[in-house]
Amino acid sequence: MKDLIGFFDSGVGGISVLHTAMTLMPRESFLYYGDNGNAPYGTKPLEEIRALCRQAMDVLLSRDVKAIVLACNTATSAYAEILRSEVSIPVIGMEPAIKPAQENRTGGDVLALATKATLSLPKFKNLMARYGSHVIPVVGEGFVELVESGEADSERAREAVEAVLAPYMGRDIDSIVLGCTHYPFLQRHIQACFPGKPIFDGRLGTAMQLRRRLEAVGSLSQAERGTLELRTSGATDVLVLMRSLLAYLDRT
Ligand code: DGL
Repeated sequence: MKDLIGFFDSGVGGISVLHTAMTLMPRESFLYYGDNGNAPYGTKPLEEIRALCRQAMDVLLSRDVKAIVLACNTATSAYAEILRSEVSIPVIGMEPAIKPAQENRTGGDVLALATKATLSLPKFKNLMARYGSHVIPVVGEGFVELVESGEADSERAREAVEAVLAPYMGRDIDSIVLGCTHYPFLQRHIQACFPGKPIFDGRLGTAMQLRRRLEAVGSLSQAERGTLELRTSGATDVLVLMRSLLAYLDRT
């Protein structure tokens, strides 16, 4: 029986979603593939993102995975519908958590942080049409690169985050949406710009959706304990970074 779940992100960002899924489903076995050699995706044109996703899916599908999680908002926006039309296994994608943030509003605005590609594609535009009346979209310029280079904890990262968020810091902001799976690794810097404000992301919702879909098709693992395999198209020291990000999430 197929027993491997494929996780995909342009790089290390999807590790934030993987960690939640592993915690929720300790019996499952995961194959995580980061296309770090080609990250970031969010600054690239749509056709290039799609071509990269197509190649990455070959890596996961060659391992006969029982489900695929596009643990990347950019890849989901660019490629989820295409992938769903091509495979018969469950495909779980992500979207910026604008709806819960909107429901939590107390009169101010919601900042929706994501990549340039995510914010410009129809999936986000449709979300905005439904829930975006008080949502301000903001590109996290340079954020992905900082996480990819292992600098999420640095002073440089703090300054970069503050530079992007400074124009909104004096305004009435109710909450912040992290619409890119790399951004939870910068959460402390983002929170410092808006002390006490709730931060929403799609990690738990995605992991729960994965569990529901596996349950619905009767393919939840019966193994006593799952396994984890990490792969990258980038340099092998990226695997060390992936493990250290998992360990960081264990601590926080
Ligand atoms: N982690 C990805 C996301 O959720 C995108 C990062 C990138 O630009 O490659 O959007």
